[in-house]
Amino acid sequence: MMNAIKASAEYIKGRTAFEPEVGIILGTGLGGLVEHIEIVEAIPYSEIPNFPVSTVEGHSGKLIFGLLGGKKVVAMQGRFHYYEGYTAQQVVFPVRVMKLLGIKYLFVSNAAGSMNSTFRVGDVMVINDHINLIPNPLIGKNLDELGPRFPAMNDAYNHELIEKATAIAEREGIKLQYGCYVALTGPTFETPKEYMWVKIIGGDAVGMSTAPEVIAARHMDIPVFGVSIITDTMENTCISHEEVQANGRLAEKNMTKLFTELLKTL
Ligand code: HPA
Repeated sequence: MMNAIKASAEYIKGRTAFEPEVGIILGTGLGGLVEHIEIVEAIPYSEIPNFPVSTVEGHSGKLIFGLLGGKKVVAMQGRFHYYEGYTAQQVVFPVRVMKLLGIKYLFVSNAAGSMNSTFRVGDVMVINDHINLIPNPLIGKNLDELGPRFPAMNDAYNHELIEKATAIAEREGIKLQYGCYVALTGPTFETPKEYMWVKIIGGDAVGMSTAPEVIAARHMDIPVFGVSIITDTMENTCISHEEVQANGRLAEKNMTKLFTELLKTL
C-alpha cells in the first residue's frame, strides 16, 4: 500500500513542480469552487497510477493544482465513495497521496441531509464532529510511516479553524450552522426511521462521504476543516441526486467565500 501511495505521489511530482499547502475535497454539486482557482495544472485521475476512477455523476475526476486565497492548493474535483464499490482504503488513497505532496491542512465539503429542525436547505454547516458508520479506512495493517495504530479523534475538526471560520462568516454576513455529520454507506437515502435514528444518536446532518477521508487525515495529523451543505431536510426526504446537486449550488457561493477567506488566514 505504502509503495502504491508513493508511486502516485512520485508520478504527480514528475508532472508538476507545484507544491500544494492545502488539500481540498469537493462534494456533490460543489465543484464550482474550482472556477475560482488560478489553475496551474490539472491531472485527470485516470492518468495517475494506482488512483481509483470516479464513477458517480456530477464528479469529473481531476486533481486541480493552483492558487486560491493566495495559497497553493490541490483540489480533488470528484471524490471516491464507499458505495461505488471501492474499499475504505481506496476511498482515502488520494488523501494519503496529498500528504506526500506536502499538504499541511485539509478542507472537505459534502452535500448532506439534515435532521436538525433549525437548519434550512442551502445552509452551510460547519462540521464539529462526526459519527462514522462507513468501515474505518485504518482497519488492516497500520501504515506506521503515516501515523499511529490508535489515533485520537477528539479534535477531528480543528477548533482554531472553526473559530476563524466563525469570525469570517460574521464579517462577510454568511449564516453558519454547526453540527455533527453522520456518515452512512448509502447509496440509498434514508428511510424516515433511519433519519430519526440518525437524529437520536446525535447527528445534525447525514451523508455518504467525508468521515473516512477525515480519519485518514487525522491519522497523519493533518488539521481538518469541513462543511456540509444542507441539500435536504427530514421534512423533505423524497430526494433525488439531481435535487442534491441543484440545492448544493445554492450554498456554493457561501462555501467558496468561506474557504477562500479561511485560506488567506493560514
Ligand atoms: N442522506 C444521505 N446523503 C445525502 C443526503 C441525505 O439526505 N443528502 C445529500 N446527501
